[in-house]
Amino acid sequence: MKTQYFTATSLDGFLATEDDSLDWLFTLGSLEESSYPAFIAQVGALAMGSSTYEWMLRNADAVRAETGSAWPYTQPAWVFSSRRLPGIDGADIRFVQGDVRPVHAAMRLAAGTKNLWVVGGGDLAGQFYDAGLLDELILQVGSVTLGRGKPLFPRRLPSTALRLLDAQPLGTGMVELRYAVNRTGDPADFDRE
Ligand SMILES: NC(=O)c1ccc[n+]([C@@H]2O[C@H](COP(=O)([O-])OP(=O)(O)OC[C@H]3O[C@@H](n4cnc5c(N)ncnc54)[C@H](OP(=O)(O)O)[C@@H]3O)[C@@H](O)[C@H]2O)c1
Repeated sequence: MKTQYFTATSLDGFLATEDDSLDWLFTLGSLEESSYPAFIAQVGALAMGSSTYEWMLRNADAVRAETGSAWPYTQPAWVFSSRRLPGIDGADIRFVQGDVRPVHAAMRLAAGTKNLWVVGGGDLAGQFYDAGLLDELILQVGSVTLGRGKPLFPRRLPSTALRLLDAQPLGTGMVELRYAVNRTGDPADFDRE
């Protein structure tokens, strides 16, 4: 069971524009042609921050047109927010706030042997990293720069904390990078995992 931060990012490290637009992303390639179908089949629970969730709410029609449902996940989802947010009919969503560690424990329980997906944003993935709970980064890096926006991962990681496991071109618009993460920055920790 791994905790994985799987996301697309611009080449200069942004998940979205400052006003939460993902329009830059959809011209670059299709999720179905990435490792997403194999990835999501192994996900048992997911977590996201409120901006990511509210993007889904705002774009429910587009998400429905693309996937057949306004909420395309069958797995239980934990949404982090300090505010009271609306749910989505038929979706298994639990609203939480604060420390990621008890939420991670609950996600593990729900997921069984499957993996946990940290959908984003970047700081939430950072909170899992800070708690020593992030095992992998899986990044579709788009051939585009945004200049400003919502950061991919606002943390400082030494090169010893990341080990490149795989790199796959996805046409000319993207490359998928997969990294193992360890929190101590001690390369020996990769071998102890
Ligand atoms: N490129 C991609 O594939 C991809 C992937 C994921 C996301 N995105 C997009 O990237 C943007 C990410 O937005 P973002 O950087 O603002 O991140 P976010 O994690 O989606 O939202 C951040 C907000 O979540 C809440 N939050 C986070 N941690 C919390 C905690 N521990 N306890 C309570 N609340 C917590 C806070 O808001 P409140 O407390 O005010 O609710 C915080 O301001 C979105 O537009 C999303 O759609 C793109």
